[in-house]
Amino acid sequence: MIRKLTITRPDDWHLHLRDGAMLEAVLPETARDFSRAIIMPNLVPPVVTAKQAAAYRDRIMAALPEGADFAPLMTLYLTEDTDPADVAAAFNDGLITAVKLYPAGATTNSASGVKDFDRVMPVLEKMAEVGCTLCVHGEVTDPAVDIFDREAVFIDRVLAPLRRRVPELRITMEHITTKDGVDYIAASENIAGSITTHHLIINRNHILVGGIKPHYYCLPVAKRELHRVALVAAATSGDPRYFLGTDSAPHTDPNKESACGCAGVFSATNTMSCLAHVFEAENALDKLEAFASLNGPAHYRLPVNSSKITLEKQEEAVIFPSKVETGDGPVTVFDPGFPIYWRVA
Ligand code: NCD
Ligand code: ZN
Repeated sequence: MIRKLTITRPDDWHLHLRDGAMLEAVLPETARDFSRAIIMPNLVPPVVTAKQAAAYRDRIMAALPEGADFAPLMTLYLTEDTDPADVAAAFNDGLITAVKLYPAGATTNSASGVKDFDRVMPVLEKMAEVGCTLCVHGEVTDPAVDIFDREAVFIDRVLAPLRRRVPELRITMEHITTKDGVDYIAASENIAGSITTHHLIINRNHILVGGIKPHYYCLPVAKRELHRVALVAAATSGDPRYFLGTDSAPHTDPNKESACGCAGVFSATNTMSCLAHVFEAENALDKLEAFASLNGPAHYRLPVNSSKITLEKQEEAVIFPSKVETGDGPVTVFDPGFPIYWRVA
């Protein structure tokens, strides 16, 4: 039995850090184990211009603990007013790594997202030309579409037509939650999928059976078990088109445990331990490095990290803090629902 695993230091290809007191409290949780992370731009107001991305990057760097080995990879929030030249210059200068597409109203702070795709075609064409990746929140917002079907419908109604219009555009379908997402990526070119830690572990029963569990509610919402099984198969396959994006999305407990609770699971603290557990259970510990450390940089055409981390299996279950205290209030850490024996040395 493997009890010790040394892998290239991982990256997180989808992370919410927020700002101010929240940023200060949650950033060390990611910087401890990860070298880089794609930083989501859904602040209030969103990060829409290169200038705002530079200022946000400076605030993140200022909040980093002394000596941390971590670099934020910035993104711009795509709006119908985004200027193609601003995007191209920010990408060519190395300021941004990707642009994020939120369909208007799809999730937390997405009111400024895209309604009319014709209006963003010039930006997408420019991105294809310079090689800048589009990160996609893949859910339709049509109220007539059931929330559990919104990813599958997005593929047919939005993603497939978009890819026909700009076939050279590199796309990340973020936080895929369905077998439909896995299969679509497997059959396509120029598109990869990120998968969260929690979607490898929970299905929709975990949210709803035996009382509503607000800390398991996120968007896209977890689906049926057959979808979780497809995600685990994709993640543990070693296929370069699937990689880790935790979508760790902190909200304070009062905002989660509410009559209208916010969407988001906070998993930065224990992600690598949870992943080691999932991969071990599939007899696929040898594929963890591909998923967490190699496939993402290949998709984003970035170098692989040179440093390493070591995961060790303990005799006793590892006790993680159940909450991270922040200046805005406590944030509950993702509870996988079973004991975890792996920890980052
Ligand atoms: C994210 C957040 O809280 O910003 N929430 C979530 O459930 N994932 C928004 C998002 O990425 O959809
Ligand atoms: Zn997210």
